[in-house]
Amino acid sequence: MLIDPKTWHQHRLWFIATLAAAIGAVAWYFSFSRGLPDWPGGSSLPGFWFGVVGGLIILFEMALWWRKKVRTWRIGRTQVWLRAHIWLGLLSVPLIVLHSGFVLGGQLSTVLMVLFIIVIASGIWGLALQQFLPRRMLESVPAETIYSQIEHVMRQQTEEAERLVLAVCGPAAGAQPAAVAVADEAAAPMTIGALRAVGGVQGKVLLTSVPAAPVADAEPLRDFFRAEVRPYLEQGAASGSPLRQANRATVLFQDVKIKLPSAAHEPLAALEGLCTQRRQLDLQRRLHFWLHSWLWVHLPLSAALVLLMFVHIGVALKYW
Ligand code: HEM
Repeated sequence: MLIDPKTWHQHRLWFIATLAAAIGAVAWYFSFSRGLPDWPGGSSLPGFWFGVVGGLIILFEMALWWRKKVRTWRIGRTQVWLRAHIWLGLLSVPLIVLHSGFVLGGQLSTVLMVLFIIVIASGIWGLALQQFLPRRMLESVPAETIYSQIEHVMRQQTEEAERLVLAVCGPAAGAQPAAVAVADEAAAPMTIGALRAVGGVQGKVLLTSVPAAPVADAEPLRDFFRAEVRPYLEQGAASGSPLRQANRATVLFQDVKIKLPSAAHEPLAALEGLCTQRRQLDLQRRLHFWLHSWLWVHLPLSAALVLLMFVHIGVALKYW
């Protein structure tokens, strides 16, 4: 969820209401505590109500999971749910802190408070990431594809690149007759890449034309493809290839270009375009990881928080 000057009007009321409720709670708590020897805790009048409201908010926060998972549970718009999740989640912080009376208490309430702090901190962290990672993705990954398709797409691109190299260089010396037949077939017109209609990579790659017959003296292209390009296209950053860095890739491609006849320059540029695409998809994968991995903390610890909260309520009511 984006919170910026453009979307602020959707948050303003939530912000004001959250601030007013927090100020009201703090004012009630401190006026109640005047003259008392200790800070009032969960069994005091304000402390009890802060616990009740804070607990209900936590249950509501958990309901977001149901809202997302249970398809028939489509009450209200997702955006409204998310705004409520964020602002009520933030409001629960002063309520729960005041409910605790600024002490951690026994083991159970200490664990509960630690869980609560981690859930809140991970929520704020996730929200902060949502402010800039999607924009970064849009700007830096014009070749963005469906996340789960990344490896499949790159496998296809590698096969196409292989055909391209075969068409330009011809079958390798001592190749099997089958490879020669494949080389003939590879000489047919070919388009490479092209995932999304925008962005420099696709334009460049689409323009690639394949020479009708193998180009003389193009062997350095095959060597470079086998040594550097193919492993990088197949494995991405995990290959450890220097091609994962844009500036080093430029230098390497320039070095090979000097060794090649001009008829092989365009296919070389196509391979460079594919490497750029691989770099973008690797970046997409990294951004995707950061955008989603915090939920692995936020969600399970939220569930643990709710479970332990019920134990805490049971124990507290028993000894009250
Ligand atoms: C006790 C407090 C909280 C609980 C129990 C809680 C629980 C949850 C749960 C269960 C989900 C759904 C996970 C999923 O399946 O995707 C979620 C998502 C999320 N939470 Fe919280 N949360 C709490 C506080 C907060 C706070 C304070 C913030 C931010 C200030 C926050 C930000 C988020 C965000 C951004 C998402 C992802 C929503 C999306 O984009 O789909 N949460 N939370």
